Amino acid sequence: MAHFGGHALFLSPRDTQLGRGEPIADSAKVISRMVDCVMLRTHEHETVTHFAANSRVPVINGLTDKEHPCQLLADMQTYFEHRGDIRGRTVAWIGDGNNMCHSYIHAAMVLDFTLHIAAPQGYLPNPEIVALAGERVKFFDNTVDAAKNVDLVVTDVWASMGQEEEQKLREIAFKDYQVDSRVMAVAKSDALFMHCLPAHRGEEVSAEVIDGAQSVIFDEAENRLHAQKALLELLLCGNAKISLLSD
Ligand code: NVA
Repeated sequence: MAHFGGHALFLSPRDTQLGRGEPIADSAKVISRMVDCVMLRTHEHETVTHFAANSRVPVINGLTDKEHPCQLLADMQTYFEHRGDIRGRTVAWIGDGNNMCHSYIHAAMVLDFTLHIAAPQGYLPNPEIVALAGERVKFFDNTVDAAKNVDLVVTDVWASMGQEEEQKLREIAFKDYQVDSRVMAVAKSDALFMHCLPAHRGEEVSAEVIDGAQSVIFDEAENRLHAQKALLELLLCGNAKISLLSD
C-alpha cells in the first residue's frame, strides 16, 4: 500500500473490538466502511470467510490454519521467473499436510501441475481438499519416492503457528521427512527448492539444501511483496494483468 502511495493500518486483536468479543460481522461492517481493502491473518479459516461475507471491500486471506494463498502467488511467480510455465510440471510437497500444502493443492488445480505429497500418517492434508484435485495429487510414503523426477521440492515447518506446544511430538512424527541432499538428488537436475519461511535448518530441511544452489527462498520471500502488490491492484483497480496465467 505504501509503494502505491496509500496507507496501511496494522490492527492486532488488542487494537480492535474483536479482541473484546465484538462479533466478527459487526467488526467487518465497521472496518470495511473505513478502508479500501482488508487483509486478515488468523487461525480459524471461518474468521476470514465470515469477515468477508460481511465486508463492503475485498478481504484477502493473509493466512489461516487451512490456507495460505498469498504465499502461493509468490511461490508461483518465483517458479515462472526461474523456469517458465509450471503447467504440466511436477511438484513434491514434503512434510506437514498443512495450510501451505492445501494451497499447493489449489495451485495444482488452477495452474495444472501434478503434486506429489509425502506426509506422515496423522498429518495428511484435508481429504475434502484432496478430493477436489482428483488425479493431480498423488501420495507417497517416503520423501525420496515423492521427489523422483520432480521440478520443484517444497516443504514447511513441522509445527505451524499455534502448534508450538506440539513441537516435540512432531519432531518424532516427522523425523523421516527432511528435505536433504538425498531427496534433492532424485529430483530433476534443474529442480528448485522452496520454503515459505521461517525455516528450521536441521528439521524440515538441511542447511545444505536451503542454503544451496537450487534454493530460491529469498526470491520467493521478495515476491511476497510483488505478488501482493499485483493482488491489490487487481482487487482495487480491477485491471491488473495476471501474468502468472500464461497465454
Ligand atoms: N505453515 C506455516 C506457514 C508460515 C508462513 C504456519 O502456518 O505457521
